[in-house]
Amino acid sequence: MWCRNVLRTRTVYNKPAILACLQCLTNNNLNSVTLKHPARRLFVSDARECTIGDVIDQWSRRFESEGVQEPMKSIEHIVAHVIGTKKMVDILNVRNDALTASQIEKLESLCESRLSSPCRMPVQYIVGEWNFRDITVKLVPPILIPWPETEILVDVVVKRLSSLQADSGEIIEIGCGSGAISLAVAHACKGMKFTAIDKNLHACDLTTINRDNLNLTKQATVIHANLKPDASIEVLSSSNGADNVDLNSKLFDFVISNPPYVPTKQIPELQPDLRIYQDPRALDGGDDGLTVIKSVLKYAAKALKPGGRLFMEVHPTHPEHIQSFTNNYPDLKLYHEHSYKDSCNNDRIVEVVKVI
Ligand SMILES: C[S@@+](CC[C@H](N)C(=O)[O-])C[C@H]1O[C@@H](n2cnc3c(N)ncnc32)[C@H](O)[C@@H]1O
Repeated sequence: MWCRNVLRTRTVYNKPAILACLQCLTNNNLNSVTLKHPARRLFVSDARECTIGDVIDQWSRRFESEGVQEPMKSIEHIVAHVIGTKKMVDILNVRNDALTASQIEKLESLCESRLSSPCRMPVQYIVGEWNFRDITVKLVPPILIPWPETEILVDVVVKRLSSLQADSGEIIEIGCGSGAISLAVAHACKGMKFTAIDKNLHACDLTTINRDNLNLTKQATVIHANLKPDASIEVLSSSNGADNVDLNSKLFDFVISNPPYVPTKQIPELQPDLRIYQDPRALDGGDDGLTVIKSVLKYAAKALKPGGRLFMEVHPTHPEHIQSFTNNYPDLKLYHEHSYKDSCNNDRIVEVVKVI
């Protein structure tokens, strides 16, 4: 939907704006997000005559006239949420179906929220969930909205597990956010066990909720922990199984990560509506975008089993730096094996192997 190559689409937030946003939330405890702006009443007025196609056409025009970004995709996602379909293609097949009065009421309330929230809250936060590959994850600002490019990371990991015929193994994710990556791989590969860490406690809470909603509780442990520049992991809260695992000595088959990788000077170029709702610390990778990436590489060097693999989403300028880094530090015993392209044909995912 949004291509990360257009850097405007990656976001930061500023504190006053996010506080204004949070005032819109009747309940910001991660369990429900409901906007309390009064809805202007029925744009589409008669439930009996109102088809899904009518709603999409009328609301996309209204969104467009009021300057909402991606007006058609916004209403399609709201409709998909209201009628309970996961695949956007299904919407095209049901354009002639009528909506019930309660569906119209819910839809109009969500559309009005999109129009009236400060700086147009992203539709993913408006509906409070997002389809990511084969799973649906709950989303709450300011935890990062997973991006389509990140689905490619999951595809690459799942294909590699399949090619290795791995029916069991241990994977750690650095910076789990909503949990989308670990949970999508766990959903696809039932034999794998996951440790998902994030330094943001709210991200850990959200991953835990998503994990339990997806019945993946036995497959994934979520730990509130920080990967430090020296590649050690500091556990920040000792709950959820953190006591049972030493992340500084345990070995893993795979390390996966979508770390903050936007160079700091490019942060202001990001799209404003997303910029205020997402945590900049989830995006800002320092001067060259490589600060956390280097920590992940160093951690992978000590945490991967021989022959183990690191999969990481990066900025398109990063693969060559990662290759130089692994060449310049042979003691790490890491080898940059391949870069995979995103839908805009930019190198986006790197696969690095721990040499045996
Ligand atoms: C780009 S977001 C990715 C979130 C999620 N994995 C996704 O793909 O949607 C990066 C995440 O890494 C976390 N993070 C950043 N630096 C970290 C560190 N040093 N240790 C642990 N987590 C970190 C942030 O809190 C954020 O949730």
